[in-house]
Amino acid sequence: MNTLIIIKPWAVQRGLVGEILARFERHGIRIAAVKAVLLSKDKAEKLYAVHEGKPFFKDVVGHMTSTPIVAAVLETDMLDDEAAVALVRKIVGVTDPTKAEMGTIRGDFGMRKDRNIIHASDSPESAEYEIPLFFTKNDIVSYVKQVI
Ligand code: PPS
Repeated sequence: MNTLIIIKPWAVQRGLVGEILARFERHGIRIAAVKAVLLSKDKAEKLYAVHEGKPFFKDVVGHMTSTPIVAAVLETDMLDDEAAVALVRKIVGVTDPTKAEMGTIRGDFGMRKDRNIIHASDSPESAEYEIPLFFTKNDIVSYVKQVI
């Protein structure tokens, strides 16, 4: 199962990319693809399409296109799809950093909900929609055979 995380502008600016990716690796979650991107307005609108019409839509698109982000596909083949997304989101923590548990990425490094430092797909269906916005099939490796 593959899911997407995006290390958002404030985290990239603060040099937290390695620290954040390491948190997933320590859980045995593998990095199947990773790249730095300066997101286009069109892609950002597609990424947050589910929030179109909400008061913060323009702001989140503006923020996500302001400076580079780092997108990564995470591979978690030892869990079923729902559990894989749930584990990644547990490592990430809840959206609002002031409410996120210490020990989660958002709880440890975040400050503002409207500038939270990481995005994670919230379901296998969202991952399927979001991953192709950043990566082609050829960009994504699988480690499954090496583990067996
Ligand atoms: S909702 O309406 O409850 O579903 O939205 P929420 O889960 O709170 O937030 C969804 C994502 O939008 C980001 N967000 C914002 N960005 C910029 N400006 C403002 N005002 C703002 N409000 C919410 C929030 O950080 C979530 O981003 P992701 O990347 O999905 O974590």
